[in-house]
Amino acid sequence: MPNDTRKYLAGDSIDSQRSTGNSSMNPPLTITLAYTGASGMPYGIRLLEMLLASGNRVYLLYSQVAQIVAQQEMQLALPSRAKEVEELFSRRFNAAAGQLRVFGREEWFAPVASGSNPADAMVVCPCTMGTLAAIAAGLSQNLIERAADVMLKENRKLILVPRETPFSVIHLENMLKLARSGAVILPANPGFYHHPETVQDVVDFVVARILDHLGVAHTLLPRWGEES
Ligand SMILES: Cc1cc2nc3c(=O)[nH]c(=O)nc-3n(C[C@H](O)[C@H](O)[C@H](O)COP(=O)(O)O)c2cc1C
Repeated sequence: MPNDTRKYLAGDSIDSQRSTGNSSMNPPLTITLAYTGASGMPYGIRLLEMLLASGNRVYLLYSQVAQIVAQQEMQLALPSRAKEVEELFSRRFNAAAGQLRVFGREEWFAPVASGSNPADAMVVCPCTMGTLAAIAAGLSQNLIERAADVMLKENRKLILVPRETPFSVIHLENMLKLARSGAVILPANPGFYHHPETVQDVVDFVVARILDHLGVAHTLLPRWGEES
């Protein structure tokens, strides 16, 4: 494994020099970000870093298996108590007071649980086939599923970043149902035409596409047809 890959997977601080760190042209958004237990935690962590660095507010949710995947892929210990996760990431990414709020799986009085107070957009990244199926079925059995259900019913932007291969007919039918309901299905599916040299370049490809769909300014990647 190349050195940079090992370093990245070990969860070392991610170089954010290529981020704009500035979206002063746009008013800050409130984004709900959910981590579930699919492979691809580096995408979710980088996305959180970019959203905070660009001055947006984040409501963070995470499943139990997301804790296992974070440990397995990034040697990142996500505490079970939401408040501790909030402190961990606020410190790590230098968030302003109140910029990041983290909610537990059954915190039903969190703002994201109600259509009367929806976030501007929600991203599930990475998104398991299990959570995707639950959202497609409208189960709302935990806060992640409920927050996604709220986004759909309130016609707000919901971006799902599934990671699985190959897809079964069940996966494909669930994704089709969600796309028809207004969700954006944005698979963790990096391209290679930008000639990535590091794992971070590969991660940034996917994160850049998510930020594009959120309308958050970034310079993670040169745009197609423009000089790098
Ligand atoms: C290390 C690890 C990697 C996994 N990778 C995936 C994956 O890439 N995609 C997926 O759909 N499920 C994956 N799973 C299985 C899900 O985590 C499992 O179905 C879980 O019940 C999903 O729950 P959640 O959606 O609440 O996180 C993985 C599990 C583990 C422990």
